[in-house]
Amino acid sequence: MKSGFNRILVTAALPYANGYLHLGHLAGAYLPADIYVRYQRLKKRDILFLCGSDEHGVAITVTAEKEKTSPKAVIDRYHPANLKAFDDFGMSFDNYSRTSLPLHHETAREFFKEFHKCGVLREKQEKQLYCEKDRMFLADRYVEGVCPNCKYPQARGDQCENCGTWLSQTDLLDPKCKICGTTPVVRDTTHWYFPLGNYQKRLEEYVQERDKRDGWKENVLRYCQSWFKGGLEDRAVTRDLSWGVKVPVSGYEEKVIYVWFDAVLGYISAGKEWALKLGKPKAWEDYWLRDDTKYVAFIGKDNVVFHCIVFPAMLMAWNDGARERYVLPENVPANEFLNFEGQKFSKSRGWGIDVSDFLKFFPADTLRYTLALNLPESRDSDFYLKDFQARTNNELADILGNFVNRTFAFAERHFDGNVPALGRPGKLDKEMLALMKNAPGTIGGLIERYKFREATFESMSLARNANKYFNDSEPWKTIKSDPGQCSTTIRICLEVVRSLAIIFQPVIPHFSARMWSMLNLQGVVEDQSWEAASAPSLGESHNLGKSEILVNKVEDQRIEEVIRFLEQPDGKDSMATESKPAISIDDFKKIDLRLGKVLSAERVPKSEKLLKLQVEIGNEKRQIVAGIAKHYAPETLVGKLVVIVANLEPAKLMGQESRGMLLAASDNNGKLSIVTTAEELSSGSVVK
Ligand code: MF3
Ligand code: ZN
Repeated sequence: MKSGFNRILVTAALPYANGYLHLGHLAGAYLPADIYVRYQRLKKRDILFLCGSDEHGVAITVTAEKEKTSPKAVIDRYHPANLKAFDDFGMSFDNYSRTSLPLHHETAREFFKEFHKCGVLREKQEKQLYCEKDRMFLADRYVEGVCPNCKYPQARGDQCENCGTWLSQTDLLDPKCKICGTTPVVRDTTHWYFPLGNYQKRLEEYVQERDKRDGWKENVLRYCQSWFKGGLEDRAVTRDLSWGVKVPVSGYEEKVIYVWFDAVLGYISAGKEWALKLGKPKAWEDYWLRDDTKYVAFIGKDNVVFHCIVFPAMLMAWNDGARERYVLPENVPANEFLNFEGQKFSKSRGWGIDVSDFLKFFPADTLRYTLALNLPESRDSDFYLKDFQARTNNELADILGNFVNRTFAFAERHFDGNVPALGRPGKLDKEMLALMKNAPGTIGGLIERYKFREATFESMSLARNANKYFNDSEPWKTIKSDPGQCSTTIRICLEVVRSLAIIFQPVIPHFSARMWSMLNLQGVVEDQSWEAASAPSLGESHNLGKSEILVNKVEDQRIEEVIRFLEQPDGKDSMATESKPAISIDDFKKIDLRLGKVLSAERVPKSEKLLKLQVEIGNEKRQIVAGIAKHYAPETLVGKLVVIVANLEPAKLMGQESRGMLLAASDNNGKLSIVTTAEELSSGSVVK
């Protein structure tokens, strides 16, 4: 940490309490934040780690409508569920709060009132989209349309999920009401606006200065630059909605504060709640209101504008009023997105796996390790079950686990389970001790620079080198030929186990605790200092604890169970039977439907549901993967004419490339039929 800072404040984006957390969430903000915080705690730095549920906005009300229940019921279901999933995953928040707390409503209103009083906010009458059928203004996610920036067809009223652009709803092309599908009209309504443009110059300086001091990530700087280039504009911070924080200005009783305006302040409320729980109501101020606090905000890429521009501008506006001064983020290390088996996580398409489901099959640390090595730090990355299995088996079990277990087995067998004496170190011993000495510095440096993938890789390298050291030292030979050397070897191996327990603690805290207890050392790993991983420190003749297998391998069968679990119909399918909003003929024409002739078909290994087809479409041959294996024997499909969505983006399903989608119909009884033609036509024919 740069000198000049005396404490650290870390926040991780507040997830919406409108669904279960999936692996993509973990890779975006939470695992990196947790690794960073656990490391800083080992460095004995004064640190506070805050998060909580984001419980307002249309994300919640749309879910409530879909689930035919109230917004309150939605947040009361998902908040505790997500809290538990985080806990099981090993997130070490000091407080996990929620924005529905009265304490938070007060905080958000206090900011709003202050801005209102100081004349920061402006009231304006502007045009907004209004649905005449549903008789309401279509705030945020109540309207969908084509993104003016990237042309993504399902951009929401306030944000395009695809390119991250923060939108004004009237910029949307071809807007449609999300509830009834009709085209909204434009009507005047009055709102309070935050004049972001007034802060542009200061924001540019702010980003530049913090980047210089703490090295901002390329991807984050790129997003900021494109915002600045476009020019910042006034943004409405109130909404015509009933769910949210009430606007504390008369005449606005029917409106609420815009969700992003209240959500970012949720970080502050989470600190206040933490302090209250601690019995020191002012303790939060030591972090939030001091300029010697280093504040790091972990987020996913879709949140960049709100954390690098909107939130800092709000804090600047508050600080200008100068009663007290809030600390601005020193860094906002945003990650890109994680894909699952080659495709985007998608709640609506039912693609992906929830954290709580994954942890029913595997221990948290195996997930933490594979995710840490695949974090989307500079570009989107992938999570494949095969890769997870390989990392767990070939690295966690065969390198780390094997090294720990063979060291303990040897000590038990030949040294009565005691720590043997350290003799005069030879060349190999000195090399091993040097690697151990340097590891904390190297790995710590990477973590301080938010390079968690590399840090995890380097941690495993120490274990890899230790395994090699064990092999090259051949203690099974020296036990007879040179017992002094043998005792030195095993002593050093045990020292390395201790060192590994410390340096791996941020990534795999549960395994690290088990290593600690196998060593039978005082206290817990968390009490150690990071630097203590550098030097030998075990006492001679110290009695080791009972050793046990550290990491169990993931069997093929277990992976197959997960795949079967993922293929289960789970009610998400039945949603597809709801009728969809009307679309225009132009929308329909965007889909390139073609007749294809099946040339060959085979099962996708390890999948009960998928068939891999080679299909001829005119002169072209394509591979298409379809979820019809339970309904068709592969050989019965050969020669059939099928209907293909030919211009669907290619995707990978269970590791198999699919270029297009096959149309099939299914009824409520689970019967399925591929769609074919009444006449024999040539492949490649257009379907319309
Ligand atoms: N709920 C938002 C999301 O999931 C993130 C909010 S972060 C906060 O994208 F800072 F606004 F709290
Ligand atoms: Zn877009």
